[in-house]
Amino acid sequence: MTREQDYSGKELYVHNLFAAIAHHYDVMNMVMSAGMLRLWQRAFAGRTGLQPGGRALDVAAGTAELSLVLARQAGPTGQVTGIDFSAEMLEVGREKVDAIRARRGGDRMAPISLVEGNALSLPFADGTFDCAASGFALRNVKDIPKAISEMARVVKPGGRVVVLELSKPSNPLIREPYFLYFNHIVPILGWIIDPKTERKLRAYGWLPKSLIPLPSQKGLADIFRQAGLVDVGFQGLTAGVVSVHYGIKPS
Ligand SMILES: C[S@@+](CC[C@H](N)C(=O)[O-])C[C@H]1O[C@@H](n2cnc3c(N)ncnc32)[C@H](O)[C@@H]1O
Repeated sequence: MTREQDYSGKELYVHNLFAAIAHHYDVMNMVMSAGMLRLWQRAFAGRTGLQPGGRALDVAAGTAELSLVLARQAGPTGQVTGIDFSAEMLEVGREKVDAIRARRGGDRMAPISLVEGNALSLPFADGTFDCAASGFALRNVKDIPKAISEMARVVKPGGRVVVLELSKPSNPLIREPYFLYFNHIVPILGWIIDPKTERKLRAYGWLPKSLIPLPSQKGLADIFRQAGLVDVGFQGLTAGVVSVHYGIKPS
């Protein structure tokens, strides 16, 4: 269990930011990604190696977007845990999971348990999961190598670590419009969707700043290797604006 007073600096800012935007996070995500989110999630699913009956962890799960993807893969005999330090994001996630489970076919998913905790000190034993995944969260943690090494620690030998994250495209023809979009258009979208929160927190002004500490695709692959993972690789999506990074814990 985490509390606001457990955080300071970047963690406290990020914690409070997601508490404030939790109620419109999913809408904003869909708008910002121009509807590409489902395609990116499908590419992510192709890398998890998760089988029916498997056990998966969604780190910094937020509103349980990737937890739901993993739960469909793991099926009713599987088990998915989502962990995040924002109680508000998890609450939106719980409501969404319950609504989806109540629909026809909802019983074909693995149960999802959403728990509060920090990505940098996962409260799970070594070798617990078949897959540890994370989506659009690495930019927000204060120590990226630690987050990856924690994910590597909690997967079983032979299990996978998979991260879906924004990337900084190397092609200048894509790079210029990419930074223009995040620096100028995204904050305007934030103002349109929730002017009150945006005025108070500049939440979507944070997004381009969060890209600064994000390593390149190759740099992130090196961090995966330093965490002891093998068969490390990445797949750029939508002209490299987003990537799926993956690696396997050696047997
Ligand atoms: C951009 S959201 C991503 C949510 C979700 N994974 C998705 O794919 O939509 C980032 C999430 O990371 C969480 N987060 C950031 N730093 C964290 C940390 N150190 N421990 C746990 N959660 C963290 C935030 O609370 C937020 O829910």
